[in-house]
Amino acid sequence: MSQPLVIANWKMNLPLGGIQDWIQDEMMPNVDIVDFDKKSSYFKFMGIAPPISHLSELKNLFSFGFLGAQDISKYNDGAKTGDISAAMMIEKGCSFSILGHSERREFYGETNSIVREKLKICLAKEIIPVVCIGESIEDYNTGKTLDTLEIQLKEIFSSIITQTVIVIAYEPVWAIGTGNTPSSSEVNNIHQHIKDIVQSIANVEAINVIYGGSVNCENAKSFFQQSNIDGALIGGASLDGKNFLNIYNDFLETL
Ligand code: PGA
Repeated sequence: MSQPLVIANWKMNLPLGGIQDWIQDEMMPNVDIVDFDKKSSYFKFMGIAPPISHLSELKNLFSFGFLGAQDISKYNDGAKTGDISAAMMIEKGCSFSILGHSERREFYGETNSIVREKLKICLAKEIIPVVCIGESIEDYNTGKTLDTLEIQLKEIFSSIITQTVIVIAYEPVWAIGTGNTPSSSEVNNIHQHIKDIVQSIANVEAINVIYGGSVNCENAKSFFQQSNIDGALIGGASLDGKNFLNIYNDFLETL
């Protein structure tokens, strides 16, 4: 099974005009579909990861869509102040969770071994994990991208056995929020390596590799045209509903 995905990662932000405007004023007027089933089918590759505080509001307005968490606890329950468990996320309507985003790694000290624990929780609960990996600018400039990714993948995925779809988000740290990106063909080659490495160290039925880092309306199509790029994880450009929908439509055109 394959699960291409174009994900809006709002981080700790809300769209400027609020969620209702994002959906009802910016996005839906450009989607000429009324029927619920047709809407669900049209949006089946779109994921939205809002701040948890706004999941219910989003769910009410976007009931035909695919919602996710930006992170989950590595624990299942108990005295873990501040944490939210996978089961709680599911109850809120989440079907995927971003794991190990570089901002979690930078600001909260998340390591590959923590990401691995969270991955196992997702797989046990059948939440689609969207595992973020990526190299620093120093690694990129010294030609160490593939070495760095291999270490991350081995520490997270070694000996994992699962039939749940795995999504890996390749996000070069230096491309996030900067306006700089690797070329689409560079990303395509890297995604092939990622798929090969995971297949060689884990027993996984389906891997989709999406790209994240300064994806916008201008460059999205060039990424989606590449055969190994199965979608995108989009921060800044997803806060504008119209832009995000344009990117999503570019993606649909290349399917
Ligand atoms: P960006 O963020 O699109 O703003 O670069 C991507 C991400 O952090 O997932």
